[in-house]
Amino acid sequence: MQTHTYDVVIVGAGGAGMRAALESSGRARTAVVSKLYPTRSHTGAAQGGMCAALANVEEDNWEWHTFDTVKGGDYLVDQDAAEVMAKEAIDAVLDLERMGLPFNRTPEGKIDQRRFGGHTRNHGEAPVRRSCYAADRTGHMILQTLYQQCVKQDVEFFNEFYVFDVILTGDPRTDPDVRAAGVVAYELATGEIHVIRAKSIVFATGGAGKVYKTTSNAHTLTGDGMAVAYRKGIPLEDMEFFQFHPTGLAGLGILLSEAARGEGGILRNGSGERFMERYAPTIKDLAPRDIVARSMANEVREGRGAGPNKDYVLLDLTHLEPAHIDAKLPDITEFARTYLGVEPYTEPVPVYPTAHYAMGGIPTNITTQVLRNNTDVVPGLFAAGEVACVSVHGSNRLGTNSLLDINVFGKRAGIAAAEYAATAELVDVPEGAHLDVEKELVRIAAGSGTEKVAAIRKDLQESMDLNAQVFRTDESLRQAIKDIDALRERYANVGVSDRGTSYNTELVEAIELGFLIDLAEVVVVGALARKESRGGHFREDFPDRDDTEFMVHTMAYPTSEPGAGEGGSTVRLDYKPVVVTRYQPMERKY
Ligand code: FUM
Repeated sequence: MQTHTYDVVIVGAGGAGMRAALESSGRARTAVVSKLYPTRSHTGAAQGGMCAALANVEEDNWEWHTFDTVKGGDYLVDQDAAEVMAKEAIDAVLDLERMGLPFNRTPEGKIDQRRFGGHTRNHGEAPVRRSCYAADRTGHMILQTLYQQCVKQDVEFFNEFYVFDVILTGDPRTDPDVRAAGVVAYELATGEIHVIRAKSIVFATGGAGKVYKTTSNAHTLTGDGMAVAYRKGIPLEDMEFFQFHPTGLAGLGILLSEAARGEGGILRNGSGERFMERYAPTIKDLAPRDIVARSMANEVREGRGAGPNKDYVLLDLTHLEPAHIDAKLPDITEFARTYLGVEPYTEPVPVYPTAHYAMGGIPTNITTQVLRNNTDVVPGLFAAGEVACVSVHGSNRLGTNSLLDINVFGKRAGIAAAEYAATAELVDVPEGAHLDVEKELVRIAAGSGTEKVAAIRKDLQESMDLNAQVFRTDESLRQAIKDIDALRERYANVGVSDRGTSYNTELVEAIELGFLIDLAEVVVVGALARKESRGGHFREDFPDRDDTEFMVHTMAYPTSEPGAGEGGSTVRLDYKPVVVTRYQPMERKY
């Protein structure tokens, strides 16, 4: 076991982590610990853009952006956080421009902007051009730009190190003096355990899309940061709200950017009808994702799907000029050719909703400090990006608000972590703080378990797709809980065939699977208790939004006793008020 000491340790090297590192490393001794090489982080898969009310191509302002974010999130957004994000968006884009990000340009040389779902002029009148973009590779460009700046600034990286535990001085559920002390990491190349002590720890580990089978998320999106914090007694907020991006390649889930609709693409059902005219008459195909995904699933359920099994709808770009497609959407059109053998110039592309984004996560305040309950922070612990719930996305995130979130709150996290470290004392790490991780690795790697990681993961993901996807009911959610219980029992007998210590990816996947099981349970237990429909959470048995009972954030805690939570689960639920500053909830029409 090796020990290292820093002022600030940032876990995760995607957009939020590296944006935080750029702020922190100039102010405090900082290390970034990542299970991937930074340029392989999932930020690189984000396509369509990062929004900011620059008003470069038409009238816009940050207050309209705030309103759209609040309404898009079906009024579960904390409005103080949304105001911060929309206001700071403008500088966040300009910061990236100064770092050298190659944005698409208008003929007069300004950063070009395009339309995206739910972003409107003057509180819903018509779609507005708010998304700044680099073709359909915006996330890729952000990741490369931030990494180049980190290299220039000599940021220290621990690459291919998996953080499997966070060291706290007490139980955040009961100890008001609890502080963050460090993390426990597993080095993939050697199998060695490292304790990394720090005054400040920033979680920026991204999402948990691998809870589902059909997802736009990479294999690595296993919710590690969320699960590590949760297991220590830190709540997870609003986890039942999962976003299903409307346009995954049918049958595969690979993302086809919403930018395709921003550039003029149209969704059609099996009879060629532009069905979004019925569901969102004003902004049609550019309605927010929850509405578009549900409308698509509804077309299929009611027998109006396309294809031999009528189980998808079509994204039609055939009326767009090929030169326009090539300039604005080069990657996703290539995906359609490569993975489905479809030529988007001349044929519509089969699409269906795909699990894309966790609106919930580790609760934080607007300075990114992690909350251990509805009000109190854990000194020294911070979170930003998809792993966090600040909550700017409420129950449904608008497209392009994610690349924005990682830049605005990543920057805030880096500053806050460094400022805290400047005055805080390093906390002692309790004796044997690494032993839980070591024991679990030994149990799986050296034990006699016979259950295979891939088989349990497949069954988990299939149950989640079947029971906790776009449409949910009491019955389907109870079935998911039953399945998860059974999978947890099988997980206790999990084993691996690779007994080696070098690059044992089977072993790390086994640990990641444990995280996925815990998170799936939190998603489903929260969804079962939320007897209303709001944003990405649609209950067929409770189809209306219920602001009297449920305009509150869910806070899910692990129980200390197995089975002592909701309905015999391991999850205890509590609720937290939504922060409302200027927008009272209204009926959500588009
Ligand atoms: O559709 C997209 O390009 C995805 C963007 C996002 O999730 O913000």
